[in-house]
Amino acid sequence: MKQIAVFASGTGTNAEKMIEHFSGNLSARVALIVCNKAGAGVLEIAKKWGIEAILVEKLGFFGPKSCILPLKQRNIDFIVLAGFLWKIPAELVAAYPRKMVNIHPALLPKYGGKGMYGMKVHEAVIAAGEKESGISIHYVNEHYDEGDIIFQASCPVEPGNSPSDLAAKIHVLEHTHFAKVVEWLLS
Ligand code: GAR
Repeated sequence: MKQIAVFASGTGTNAEKMIEHFSGNLSARVALIVCNKAGAGVLEIAKKWGIEAILVEKLGFFGPKSCILPLKQRNIDFIVLAGFLWKIPAELVAAYPRKMVNIHPALLPKYGGKGMYGMKVHEAVIAAGEKESGISIHYVNEHYDEGDIIFQASCPVEPGNSPSDLAAKIHVLEHTHFAKVVEWLLS
């Protein structure tokens, strides 16, 4: 049984879809939620599903060992970043080579990089007059949103769409594809 850790900073709808998808699966399960924000919605989700959650603080996370020890102690095999807004330190990337993926709410390489998260991405896409946007699932390396792309799916940006309209479309794509792609990567 593969043990998945989901890292999330916010509401955690993708984290919950991931938990749901793997519940009852005999080959993998979400065993741990890692969060960097006290009071984040994802902590409630962890509680609801009876999944252990740990809160990481800046000093430890960006220290020489990051959070590798708690992950290894729990035999975590694979890391899923689902709206986790801190950059992953090189030590942690090296501890999980090709075993850590991120979801980004745009069609990378466009609209990625530092500061590009959540609604800011959708605002930039609309301000640029793009006709389509989408999601990118990619391996994580030491640079924001630059690891090899594994999967993309797109949706139209219609005239009059607001950033929150686009966010809703993107969430549908994320909830449809993310857990399936992770399952495929683990198989
Ligand atoms: C998701 O849309 C994810 O793509 C985005 O944060 C949202 C989290 O939503 N991630 C980034 O912007 C990373 N740069 P959720 O808390 O509802 O899963």
